[in-house]
Amino acid sequence: MFLKKIIDEKIQGAVLNKTNKQIGLKKMYIESYGCQMNFSDSEIVASILTEEGFGTTNIIEEANLVLINTCSIREKAEQTIRKRLQFYNSIKKKYNKNMMVGVLGCMAERLKENLLEEEKLVDMVVGPDAYRDLPKLVNQIEDGKKGINVFLSLEETYAEINPVRLAGNGVTAFVSITRGCDNMCTFCVVPYTRGRERSRDPKSIIKECQQLVKQGYKEVTLLGQNVDSYLWYGGGPKKEFKKATEEEIKNSWNFAKLLEKVAQISSELRVRFSTSNPQDMHLDVIDVIAKYKNICNYIHLPVQSGSTRILKLMNRGYTREEYLLLIDRIKKRIPDCAISMDMITGFCSEKEEDHLETLSLMDYVKYEYGYMFKYSERPNTTAAKRMKDDIKESIKQRRLSEIINKQRKHSLLSMQKKIGQTYEVLIEGTSKRSKQHFFGRTTHNSTVIFNKKHYKKGDYVMVNIKECTSATLIGDII
Ligand code: 5AD
Ligand code: SF4
Repeated sequence: MFLKKIIDEKIQGAVLNKTNKQIGLKKMYIESYGCQMNFSDSEIVASILTEEGFGTTNIIEEANLVLINTCSIREKAEQTIRKRLQFYNSIKKKYNKNMMVGVLGCMAERLKENLLEEEKLVDMVVGPDAYRDLPKLVNQIEDGKKGINVFLSLEETYAEINPVRLAGNGVTAFVSITRGCDNMCTFCVVPYTRGRERSRDPKSIIKECQQLVKQGYKEVTLLGQNVDSYLWYGGGPKKEFKKATEEEIKNSWNFAKLLEKVAQISSELRVRFSTSNPQDMHLDVIDVIAKYKNICNYIHLPVQSGSTRILKLMNRGYTREEYLLLIDRIKKRIPDCAISMDMITGFCSEKEEDHLETLSLMDYVKYEYGYMFKYSERPNTTAAKRMKDDIKESIKQRRLSEIINKQRKHSLLSMQKKIGQTYEVLIEGTSKRSKQHFFGRTTHNSTVIFNKKHYKKGDYVMVNIKECTSATLIGDII
C-alpha cells in the first residue's frame, strides 16, 4: 500500500509549550510517504519539534522547516520522493530562500550522507531511530552547517513521547508497539533501514490507549512491522530474550497478552493491528480476537507468493501448506474474519508454474483485499546480493495484471455478499464525494458510505448495505 498524505495542522498564535518555548513562531511542514509506521513516526517528530517551539503548517511556502518522511520499499517509492525534492527546490527558490529541508525515514537511513551529496537542497538526513536528535540538528542548520544522524538503536521505541495527532479525524489513531524487523525476508530493505526488532513497554502502550479513549478516540491500530512477535521482558532487542532472567520471562508480555489488555481498556474502543506475519501468528492471538467483540475481525496476513519454492527463496519461514493451514484455523475459530494480503510477483526465478500456484492460492483463500506489487530489487538485500532479478519487466507486468484482476473479482464477490446485511459502522468523517454522506468502516475494514441523518463523527451506527463496488459499500442507517 502506498500512501501519500500531507500532514497539516495550523497552530494559530503563540502558545507556550512545556519548556516555555513559544510554539508557532517557527513553522514546520511534514509530508509522509509509505507505510502507516511512517505516518505514526511523523507524529513523534511533530511532538519532538513542538517542544522546540515549532508549530505545524500545511502551507509549504511559509514553512521554516520542511520535512519529508520517506519510504525505500520499492524503487518507484524512492523516485517519487526524488521528484518531490525537486518540487521543494522550486518552492525554495521562488518563495523562501531560507527554507530548511530535512529527509527522514527509510531513504535517509539507506542513503545516508550520499543524500546530502546527491540532493544539494537537503540540509539534514535523519534515520528512523534518531528523531530525538532533531532539535540539535536543526540548530546546526541554523548555524549554517548540514546535519546527519543515521544511528540505528537496539533500544529506541520513543515510548514516552506523546504523539501530536496530525491531520487526524479525532476518531482513529495509530499506536506503535514494535520497531524494526528481524525476519530478514530476502527481498526486503526494512531490516536495514529500520534496524533490529524491539518492543515498546506495554505500560506506555496501555497509557497511550487510555489517553486516546479519554480524548474521545474510538479506534486504535497497534502498529509494527511484525506485531505477532511483540515481546516485552524489560526492554532491549528481541533476540536477546534468551539472556532474560527467570523473573523477566515470567513477567513477559507477548502479543496475545498485549492485545487482550488493550481490548479490555473499553468495550467502546475498537482495536486493530498491523502487520501480521504468518510464521509468527499463533493460535493464542486468534483466540483473543475471537474472544473480544471490540477486536476487529480483520487480519492483514501478507503471503508474498503461493509457491513454496519461491517462499523459501524469500526466506519467509513458512510453506504454502503451512500458510493455508493457518488460514483454515483462522476461519474455523473466526468464521466471519476478513483477510487481506500483500503479494509480490516476478521474484527472482519465478516460473509460470509458481505464478499459477499464487493464482490457485488466491482462489482458495478468496481475500477480501490485496496489495500487489512487482518485485523491485533493493540494493544490499540478500536477494540483490545472491539472486538474479531475471524476470522480464513485461512478464512481471502481465503476472501482476493477472493477480490484480483476480483480486478485483474476489473483492467484488465478497462485497456483493454483504448486500442486504446490516453492519456496525464507526463514523470517521464526511464522505469525500458528498457532503450529505458519512464514511466509516465495518469490523472487516470495508469502507461504507451512508446518509448522515442526525449522527456525528465517532458514533457507532448500524448500516444496512444496499449496493457496492469492489472497494466500497453503500447503505442506509437503520
Ligand atoms: N519489491 C516489491 N515489493 C516489496 N515489498 C517489500 N519489499 C518489496 C520489494 N523489494 C512489499 C511486500 C511487503 C509490502 C509492505 O511491500 O509485499 O509485504
Ligand atoms: Fe520486510 Fe519481511 Fe520484515 Fe515485512 S517481515 S518488514 S517483508 S523483512
